[in-house]
Amino acid sequence: MDAHEVQLASYPGGVMEARNFRVNTVPVPELSDGQVMVRLRRLGLNAGLANRIGGPDTAYGPGINPGDVPASDGVVEIVESRSEAFKPGDLAVRKSPWRSIDIAAEGELRRIPAPEAGVALEAHLTVLGHTGFTAYTGMMRFGGVRAEDTVYVSGAAGGVGSCAVQFAKAVGATVIGSTGSAQKVRLLNALGTDAAFNHHDGAALDLLREAAPDGIDLFYDNVGGEQLEAALEALRFGGRVVVCGAASQYGKGSERRGPSNYLRMIYQQLTLRGFDVTSNEDLRQEFETDVASWLRAGKIRSVHTLVGGFGQIPEAFASLLAGGNSGRMIVDCDS
Ligand SMILES: NC(=O)c1ccc[n+]([C@@H]2O[C@H](COP(=O)([O-])OP(=O)(O)OC[C@H]3O[C@@H](n4cnc5c(N)ncnc54)[C@H](OP(=O)(O)O)[C@@H]3O)[C@@H](O)[C@H]2O)c1
Repeated sequence: MDAHEVQLASYPGGVMEARNFRVNTVPVPELSDGQVMVRLRRLGLNAGLANRIGGPDTAYGPGINPGDVPASDGVVEIVESRSEAFKPGDLAVRKSPWRSIDIAAEGELRRIPAPEAGVALEAHLTVLGHTGFTAYTGMMRFGGVRAEDTVYVSGAAGGVGSCAVQFAKAVGATVIGSTGSAQKVRLLNALGTDAAFNHHDGAALDLLREAAPDGIDLFYDNVGGEQLEAALEALRFGGRVVVCGAASQYGKGSERRGPSNYLRMIYQQLTLRGFDVTSNEDLRQEFETDVASWLRAGKIRSVHTLVGGFGQIPEAFASLLAGGNSGRMIVDCDS
């Protein structure tokens, strides 16, 4: 049997493009005991993966070089099994190589439990998945979000950002979101943000001051750069910053820029805390319980852009980096 896989073909010359990848046909190896054959049904794409292309190994995975097959979280269906734990037809979430059919060890799979079977497959890659778990860990554990907080989320209409916004609203906080287009501002309004702005409409600090005239208590940052500087100005005394990501700085190498106004941390007694979601597995049970109950109560929903066809992965990834997604960028590999 053959499968399709997406390999990195070349390093991007600045901006990542679809032609930096190629799609190959490869044979599927034989199954051994304890393994299953899986078919990729939905693949979630992560902006942070671009940071590993030509870069060093990180906690999220090894550096990615030409010839390598990237991996990100996907929903898979078991099609053949030599495992006691899984039978054909079972669904699971897996950190999946960008390969249409693959062999997986049973220990790599996180079963999608039966009570959630009615939940759309995409939700296992958004609010219930890796982006949701990242947002929950950053917002709850490191941000310590409270109902009385005014929270600012950058990259708010993205995969992690749209979860962060909804979780902060679910605990009753006042939430401001920034994003990169008028259409995504409308999405943020629909998600219940108290104010939302397009960061292309002016200087980040002016836009933030207009949205939050009395300042903010907590900044959940996905983007870095100018928006981090603006937030440091707008944070009230004792305010907190959670550094989740810095999408505006990826691919910039030695041109990366930190905040020039970080001395505000001294005068305003601010806390700036970075985190890596992979070190927080002890929070998963609490995350699943809270998010499932918010979903049942209709307080949150899966926000995603669905792109059709396994062969569209390179285009979808380049589009994600250019801001072409609302919510999580997901490839529907069934179509
Ligand atoms: N700490 C962790 O453990 C952890 C885990 C997972 C992800 N992350 C990080 O979380 C962040 C969000 O990840 P994601 O996968 O959900 O991606 P995403 O937010 O869906 O996509 C990236 C978004 O960043 C925005 N962006 C890109 N360049 C920008 C720029 N120059 N200025 C302002 N905004 C820019 C774009 O949104 P707009 O069009 O709205 O501007 C783009 O859609 C990333 O930084 C990622 O590295 C961290």
